[in-house]
Amino acid sequence: MSTGNGSTNGAARYQDDKVRVAIIGVGNCASSFVQGVHYYRDTDPRESVPGLMHVDVGGYHVSDIEFSAAFDIDADKVGKDLSEAIFAGQNNTLKFDTEVPKLGVEVQRGMTHDGLGKYLKEKITKAPGPTADIVDILKETRTDVVVSYLPVGSEQATKWYVEQILEAGCGFVNCIPVFIAREDYWNKRFKKAGLPIVGDDIKSQVGATNVGGNMDFYNMLERERLESKKISKTNAVTSIMGHTLPADDVHVGPSDYVPWLTDRKWAHIRLEGQAFGDVPLTAELKLEVWDSPNSAGIVIDAVRCCKLALNNGLSGQLDGPSSYLMKSPMNQRPDSEARDLTEEFIAKYARKPLGKPAKSGKATASAKTEK
Ligand SMILES: NC(=O)c1ccc[n+]([C@@H]2O[C@H](COP(=O)([O-])OP(=O)(O)OC[C@H]3O[C@@H](n4cnc5c(N)ncnc54)[C@H](O)[C@@H]3O)[C@@H](O)[C@H]2O)c1
Repeated sequence: MSTGNGSTNGAARYQDDKVRVAIIGVGNCASSFVQGVHYYRDTDPRESVPGLMHVDVGGYHVSDIEFSAAFDIDADKVGKDLSEAIFAGQNNTLKFDTEVPKLGVEVQRGMTHDGLGKYLKEKITKAPGPTADIVDILKETRTDVVVSYLPVGSEQATKWYVEQILEAGCGFVNCIPVFIAREDYWNKRFKKAGLPIVGDDIKSQVGATNVGGNMDFYNMLERERLESKKISKTNAVTSIMGHTLPADDVHVGPSDYVPWLTDRKWAHIRLEGQAFGDVPLTAELKLEVWDSPNSAGIVIDAVRCCKLALNNGLSGQLDGPSSYLMKSPMNQRPDSEARDLTEEFIAKYARKPLGKPAKSGKATASAKTEK
């Protein structure tokens, strides 16, 4: 067995049976992700699950996802088993699976940097003690893919964690609107390391943004932290339109924190059009969704795509999956086209039947790049 040394140019692939995932930021989204993996553990692969592309993606069932490590800085979460931490602290999302067993994964102390903004600091007490050795932990736990769920505006913290991930030789799924996968600089770094990345800013199954009552919304009251989130949300909406909208004709963004909504959020949607004779026509609707479960299926698909890329020695941003699963990919395209590309990606890189080795575990400097 490999020692898990990430120095083999990122080719830290130890096995292809499981998708070993580490989580940065054990908030509401992590809670829904962990609950979801348990909830769908026995689902028939032929079944269709709302919010998942497939129960089986390229040979990986949902239950093939294993949690290998978790990092947070909240005193209410650090030191707890991941199965308990997902319901601790300020987490207030729906408990749709209360029977997640002990996972044997203790939440470890991460690096704070700019993770806690003005508002989060009021509610979250930093855990005492030094920052854990993230690189060592990722290597020792044979982590394949790291998922970041840091708060909006965590620019420095994100970049710091990305360096650890590159050094440890893991793939990365960037769920937050700090731009990494879509930036040339970081894309080149991942290519050089022979590692894949899916990003940026997870695209929910049914997006909605106006008011909400979770820590994400509370944090976003700090307008300075919001810039990239607004860009990202606007991108996701305008990308499905057939024409470019003048800047003043589109407004997408969170406006307030309403505590009693907990992890639900509301969007008011107004459509304006013209009927015969250019007579005005409008439609208004209100959408209410639970925020975090809404993104969990997408992450379950993203980590499996990332693992397929690792198995096949692909590096850099995964173009099809990033454009389908993320709000701000390097190449934005309509959902139908992005989905087709992702299906092609999955079909092309599906793992070999069990018992046969994966196509190539040897990612080298000349590793293939998924365009
Ligand atoms: N549908 C969705 O919910 C959705 C969609 C797109 C993007 N996102 C993004 O995902 C991110 C996570 O959302 P959430 O609702 O889980 O937020 P959350 O506030 O519930 O969770 C964030 C967690 O990160 C922890 N944290 C803060 N700084 C840290 C650090 N430096 N190191 C490690 N942990 C740290 C916090 O203690 C908290 O547990 C947000 O950036 C959000 O905008 C969510």
